[in-house]
Amino acid sequence: MDVVAAFEEGLERGASEYRTAFEEAEDEQALRAANARFVGPSGALTRLMKRMRELPGERRKEFGQRSNQLKQEIAAAFHARLDGLAAAAREAELSGPHLDVSLPGRGRPVGRLHPLTQTKHDLLDVFVEMGFDVADGPEVEKHEYNFDKLGFPPDHPATDMQDTFFVASEGVESEARAVLLRTHTSTVQVREMLARKPPLAVVSAGATFRRDDDATHSPMFMQLEGFMVDDGITFAHLKGVLTHFLQRIFGRDLPVRFRPSYFPFVEPGGEVDMGCTICRRWQRGDAAGECRVCKGTGWIEILGCGMIHPVVFEHVGYDPERHTGFAFGLGVDRITMLRHGVPHLGLLYGNDPRFLNQF
Ligand code: DAH
Repeated sequence: MDVVAAFEEGLERGASEYRTAFEEAEDEQALRAANARFVGPSGALTRLMKRMRELPGERRKEFGQRSNQLKQEIAAAFHARLDGLAAAAREAELSGPHLDVSLPGRGRPVGRLHPLTQTKHDLLDVFVEMGFDVADGPEVEKHEYNFDKLGFPPDHPATDMQDTFFVASEGVESEARAVLLRTHTSTVQVREMLARKPPLAVVSAGATFRRDDDATHSPMFMQLEGFMVDDGITFAHLKGVLTHFLQRIFGRDLPVRFRPSYFPFVEPGGEVDMGCTICRRWQRGDAAGECRVCKGTGWIEILGCGMIHPVVFEHVGYDPERHTGFAFGLGVDRITMLRHGVPHLGLLYGNDPRFLNQF
């Protein structure tokens, strides 16, 4: 086909096809594709116009004008249709269902402290009110600080592999050189006394570890330790501080009693019982009956305590003739359970959000 015929046919076909093509395009993407078929880089009209030079001179002007005119018509129709599609989309949006801004938003869950940590903070606060310093100690500890300096004899059953997790015990030249997971927080007594001179009053709380795992024992548990050393500290100070502490946590009317007991690092040593806060027998006055927590006795054993043994003072370089002091240790787990009526220890270590979300 000669070039003049090609122009005639191309312009005619373009003029007759673009309108329908644009009208049939139902969205912007389809419209742009249709537009490109005519005036895109390889569109029909574009390709035709590239052949302008091939036309005989006397026809060039005419075809040039007709081509440009068609191009402008196509451009105008394209923009008109584009506006039409946008208007239709907006109309559909406005007449469609409303966006309901009154729907409650999706809340962001807020984290919180674990109940054991909350209790730990509350307990430490009571001692801070009384002027105690708060100290920390490592969970991986020297045998020497966990046992020997506290006056445990070398063959004490607590130092046995059955009770203690050893980290490094082989190849050490003496048992005291072994490294273990601390079995209690009494280690902090040793560390603080080695680092400081009396007078001092210190509390410390944190994780402790023993090879125990049953309904009432977890291999990891949490203890709080406290002690005070000065000239002239007596058992009366011990009783006063601990009674105030327990009543501050559980209520002013809580009965508290002290009984003799044995721990290697205190002399005399004692244990403290408090009224069972589950059956509250002291308030009701009658027989405790079936209470499972205190087994009907009305009392719960809550902590160990005593006057710091002179041998401990010797081991840390204090003069036992001059200084006296008291110490105590308690299970934060047990206090948490009693405060909140948590029936099983396992709940505190299970990380179940259904339980934890209640705190
Ligand atoms: N360390 C003891 C234990 O884990 C608790 C204890 C008892 C701590 C008497 C003390 C104390 O400071 O004086 O069983």
